[in-house]
Amino acid sequence: MDILEGIETRRSIRAFTSTPIPQATLERILITASKSPSYRNTQPWEVAVMTGEKKERLSNILCEMVKANVAPNPDLPTPEIWPPELDKRATEHGARRFEAMGVDRGDTKQRLEMRLDNFKFYGAPCMLFLFIDSTLTPWSIFDMGLFSQSILLAAHSLGIGGCLQAVVAAYPDAVREFLDIAKTKKLIIGISLGYPDLEARANSHPSTRVTIDSFVRRYA
Ligand SMILES: Cc1cc2nc3c(=O)[nH]c(=O)nc-3n(C[C@H](O)[C@H](O)[C@H](O)COP(=O)(O)O)c2cc1C
Repeated sequence: MDILEGIETRRSIRAFTSTPIPQATLERILITASKSPSYRNTQPWEVAVMTGEKKERLSNILCEMVKANVAPNPDLPTPEIWPPELDKRATEHGARRFEAMGVDRGDTKQRLEMRLDNFKFYGAPCMLFLFIDSTLTPWSIFDMGLFSQSILLAAHSLGIGGCLQAVVAAYPDAVREFLDIAKTKKLIIGISLGYPDLEARANSHPSTRVTIDSFVRRYA
């Protein structure tokens, strides 16, 4: 798979087979992602890799917090208001997901189940949590975006799917405590990884994109 094909065919995967990712494959993905560019070559990423029982236990803790209606308190603020055009895209994306999953928007029980799917890490055999030092600036968040895309593309080229999961960063204190990570580290995002279950409903709705004319201005 060349780079163009990899970028074009990658998509978020939200259901996985139970096949574990071989350790060597996981290492390869992380080594490849470590080649990502970063501001002044600072390489700010810190990665917790969870598999097996440890992953299950954290998932259970987070699911219990969601069910108990604990208020999310992410280290990165969630926007209160989006520019209308972007909000429209997000709403359409959400509606497509609900439709594909057969979930009625007004059904709070089904919506809770869909939210919990995030905290079950979509059944992925491997879950990453990405941290950075809390003294860092938005430039380092920029680096984390590049690093995350490298993880997804490296994984994809090896037949492994993944999904970025901002939602699972809702309870950073609980995650830090469970993983014994210092309070001075900010939780940025989770990434679930595993072999895609392409028959699953959760993977049945590829996302759409606006055309380049809607975001490019040409000057000559
Ligand atoms: C910063 C960021 C956070 C995201 N958080 C979530 C999340 O919490 N749960 C989820 O299911 N998908 C999440 N996604 C995946 C997006 O929904 C997905 O990338 C987008 O809809 C485009 O679809 P595609 O990845 O299949 O091309 C996130 C993506 C990004 C870049």
